[in-house]
Amino acid sequence: MSGSNGSPRDLKAGGSLHGRVRVPGDKSISHRALLFGAIAEGTTTIEGLLPAEDPISTAACLRLMGTTISPIQSGEMVTIEGVGLDGLQEPSEILDCGNSGTTMRLMLGLLAGREGRHFVLTGDASLRRRPMKRVGQPLSLLGADVRGRDRGNLAPLAVQGQKLRGAVVGTPVASAQVKSAILLAALTADGATSVIEPAHSRDHSERMLRAFGADLEVGGEMGRHILVRPGATLKGQHVVVPGDISSAAFWLVAGALVPGAKITVENVGLNPTRTGILEVLEMMGASINVLNRRDVAGEPVGDLQVSHGPLKAFQFGEEIMPRLVDEVPILSVAACFCDGESRISGASELRVKETDRLAVMARQLKAMGADIDEHEDGLTIRGGRPLKGAELDSETDHRVAMSLAIAGLMAVGDSRITRSEAAAVSYPTFWDDLERLRR
Ligand code: S3P
Repeated sequence: MSGSNGSPRDLKAGGSLHGRVRVPGDKSISHRALLFGAIAEGTTTIEGLLPAEDPISTAACLRLMGTTISPIQSGEMVTIEGVGLDGLQEPSEILDCGNSGTTMRLMLGLLAGREGRHFVLTGDASLRRRPMKRVGQPLSLLGADVRGRDRGNLAPLAVQGQKLRGAVVGTPVASAQVKSAILLAALTADGATSVIEPAHSRDHSERMLRAFGADLEVGGEMGRHILVRPGATLKGQHVVVPGDISSAAFWLVAGALVPGAKITVENVGLNPTRTGILEVLEMMGASINVLNRRDVAGEPVGDLQVSHGPLKAFQFGEEIMPRLVDEVPILSVAACFCDGESRISGASELRVKETDRLAVMARQLKAMGADIDEHEDGLTIRGGRPLKGAELDSETDHRVAMSLAIAGLMAVGDSRITRSEAAAVSYPTFWDDLERLRR
C-alpha cells in the first residue's frame, strides 16, 4: 500500500473535503497527564489520551521506572498507578524518548531531583540534534546535574539526581517545555521556586498541576510569573484530553483553502495560549465558527466549523508565536494560496523543532514552484500562483508531512510524499481521516 512501511505515498490533487472529523487528543496535555499521573498518589485515569508515538515514548520511559500504565490504545481509557512524588525507580535501561522533545525536556525536570538515582536519556536522530541546554541550564540553578554531548546540550544525556533547592529562574526562551521542566523539578526542591518567562507559553502544566493538588500560583503580566511551593502531595485525577488544536489546524486550513470544502472539527481544545491559528485565520478572512463552547476538566473546548472562501495574505511575528508555534508549517502552505505577500517573522524557534521547519518548508514548497524567501527568523511567501504536484519529502517531520498533504491537494498535478508515515508521531489516523473527508 502506498505510504506504508516507509514507501512513498501517492497523493492525488483536486477534489473537495466534507464532513465531520474528531482529531486525536492533545499531545501536550497527553504527555502531562501521563507524567503527573505517574508522580501522583493513587490512580489516574485518562480519557482521550493521544495514542501516538510521542506519548507512547513518555509512557515507555515511565514504565521503565516502575510505573504501571495500562496499554495505550485508541478509544481506551488509560489507567496509571502513581508512585508518588519521589517514587520513580532508577531504571536499568536507557530511557528512549524517541522523536519527542516534550518527553525528554519534561523528563529532565522530573528526574533532576530524584536524589541518588542515575538516568540516561536518548532519542532518535532528530531529537539527538535538538538543544537541551535550555532546560539543563535553568535546572542547574536549582542544583541539577545534567550532562551530555556538546557541553551538556545534546543527548544522550545523563542525569545524576540531586537534592534540589528552590530558586528564582528566568527562562531564556518562551518555551512551555522549559517552563514545565522547572515546575516539575520545583515540586520536590527545598524552598519555593519562581519561574519567569519572557512571554507566556502554553499553560497546560500550570492548569493540570493545580488540579492534581500542587501548590502553584500564577501571576504577573499575562501569567508570565509562576510560583511553586513544594510539600503538597499530588493526588491521582480523572483527566479528559481534548482534541489537539495543532492537529485540527490541518483541517482548518484545508477547509478554508479547498474549493467547496466544509468541515466540522469536533471537540478541539481552545486554551487561549494555543489559539493563535484562529487569530491568523480570522486575519485572513477565513470563515470559522466556534460551536458548543464548553469547559472540560479545566480546559476550554469547542467544535470548529470551517468553509472555503477567499483568503487574504497575512503577517505575524514574535508576539503571537508562542500561541501558534506548531502551526507555522501549515500556515506557510496557506500563504501560497493567498493573493499577495505574506510574512512570518519572529519564528527562529522553528529551526530547532523536529526539523528546521523554516528550511524544510521553504525547500519542499519551492519544489512545488512556490515563491518563498527564507529568512533567519521567518519566511516571506508571495502567494496566488498555482503550485504544481511534485516529489515531496516530510524529512521525517510529522507536521511537515501533514502540511505537504494539504499543499498537494491544492496543487495542479499529483504528488508523492516520502516518509509520510512521520504523521504518526502526533496524528496516527491523519491519512485515513483525509481519505474519509475527500469521499
Ligand atoms: C510543547 C511546547 C512547544 C511545542 C511542542 C509541545 C509542550 O515547544 O512546539 O510541540 O508540550 O510543552 P516549546 O515549548 O519548546 O516551544
